Amino acid sequence: MSPVKTLAKSQLNTSLAKPFLKWVGGKSQLREQFSSLYPTQLKTGEIKKYFELCTGGGAIFFDVIQKFDLNQIFLNDVNQDLILAYRVIQCHPWELIAELVHLKEKLFQLEIEQRSELFYQIRKEYNQQRINFDYQKLSTEAIKRVAWLIFINKTCFNGLYRTNKKGDFNAPFGRYKNPKICDQENLLRVSEILQGVTLVSGSYRSLDKFIDCQSFIYIDPPYRPITKTANFTAYAKSRFNDASQVELSHYYAHLSEDYGAKVMLSNSNPHNSDPVDDFFHDLYCDYKISEVYATRMINSDASKRGKITELVITNY
Ligand SMILES: C[S@@+](CC[C@H](N)C(=O)[O-])C[C@H]1O[C@@H](n2cnc3c(N)ncnc32)[C@H](O)[C@@H]1O
Repeated sequence: MSPVKTLAKSQLNTSLAKPFLKWVGGKSQLREQFSSLYPTQLKTGEIKKYFELCTGGGAIFFDVIQKFDLNQIFLNDVNQDLILAYRVIQCHPWELIAELVHLKEKLFQLEIEQRSELFYQIRKEYNQQRINFDYQKLSTEAIKRVAWLIFINKTCFNGLYRTNKKGDFNAPFGRYKNPKICDQENLLRVSEILQGVTLVSGSYRSLDKFIDCQSFIYIDPPYRPITKTANFTAYAKSRFNDASQVELSHYYAHLSEDYGAKVMLSNSNPHNSDPVDDFFHDLYCDYKISEVYATRMINSDASKRGKITELVITNY
């Protein structure tokens, strides 16, 4: 059954678009706290260019684009499948919705045991296809692949994107009764706000040539783990270790000093587990460091999960 195109534009505008994938380190719960740390020039309309260099689920992008009047927006992430998803939603939302509706119907006609079989079969095909996949073309295969990505994100355990060292998606089946595989209204809203947005997949340096002194840049790199067991860095194939964090801090200084851009960067706060670990306070000692409160799953024992702080570093 193909979806019915019933949403008029006026209906779409009554609600806000939100992240379409659940992502490790997602910032949805922190939007309000972050928004008080945006540069004043964004609020006064002097800044018209927005960049997100490690986009992930894009919670801050969704906030910024729907609050401020911007005329150039650039999103980058090293994860090719993630950027492919944004591109497919931008250009082919209805075809994607049709694929998702098809997957949803296939899942919902099965008993729970058979549902997990379907999940593992799709996860296997998704991983096998990655090896020789052409990420440039927005082909029928690309639309199908993005539908698979959304399907496994919505039906896997904890609903997160998790890969092993090889880059294979490896989260297990989640046993949800009624996972929201196809949120048609939100996908259409996301498609609408992505019109005109430049989407790039590469290192965080990829957008360098577009940046100038009227740019606001948000960087949300993989977190530095705050406990020995926490594995917050398994987002994509490569691990983002302390040397990578140091390298990124040099890039931050470059954006700030050479371009005069307004830059906001977030990361975990080492003080949560070790009050004398000044790793980020030393790296970013020339800039302003604020703390925001977050609830994160940093402990496998649910009763020990609680509020921790995260750092937001700004050069303004
Ligand atoms: C903390 S997540 C971002 C979470 C996001 N702000 C959200 O709200 O969901 C970090 C992202 O950085 C990306 N990443 C990792 N290494 C990168 C690199 N070298 N250049 C660009 N992006 C990178 C990962 O693919 C991941 O999506």
